[in-house]
Amino acid sequence: MKISVSYLSSKYDAKTTIGLIEETNADYIHVDLMDGGFVPHKNFTIPEVLELLEHHKKPLDIHLMVFDPIIYIEDLSKLKPEYITFHVEATKDIVKTIEEIKKYGIKAGLSIKPNTDLYELMPYLSIVDLVLIMSVEPGAGGQEFLESSVARLHELLKIREENHLAFQIEMDGGINSKTIQLVSELDIAVSGSFVCKSTSFQEKIDELRNLM
Ligand code: DX5
Ligand code: ZN
Repeated sequence: MKISVSYLSSKYDAKTTIGLIEETNADYIHVDLMDGGFVPHKNFTIPEVLELLEHHKKPLDIHLMVFDPIIYIEDLSKLKPEYITFHVEATKDIVKTIEEIKKYGIKAGLSIKPNTDLYELMPYLSIVDLVLIMSVEPGAGGQEFLESSVARLHELLKIREENHLAFQIEMDGGINSKTIQLVSELDIAVSGSFVCKSTSFQEKIDELRNLM
């Protein structure tokens, strides 16, 4: 399992947090973008995000919590992220948005909120590179892991296997040293406050890695 660290809720400001994540052996920096419409809060503008991550070294895993994700792709492609993931609930143009992401040579991910039927993903599973299962309501760090996410992971693993599909499975929200043990079959786990609210990011990442 790979570890993607979200800097959304941290002891430090975003720039400092990103610098500290760069010093660890985390596999990705998880970039949360919120528009104040799809989720209640807005965080960074596009120019701010481009500046914040201008000199990044680790691969980026971008998570768009925005309506109309297609309008952000061209600008974000400048960061050369590995993944751009958007929500199945956020647009009617899902295929077009996946194609727009892939046009820039970026892997496309589709995310799903805790109360959306997993079968909403079905038509797209053969064309996405990643599915991001939200294990909290998107919008804020530091929330409690929803146990129902474990069954959702198992269902998605079954769908993937039965249909011989190859997308990666990622989970985001409330992942810590207890909850990671419930979802050990994941390909990528996102962890935010568990890592970034600590005084040693690497120690917390080691804790997660030792439990997988
Ligand atoms: C939540 C964000 C997450 C969040 C994770 O809406 O998408 O990436 O930062 O933070 P923790 O690990 O604290 O739940
Ligand atoms: Zn996220």
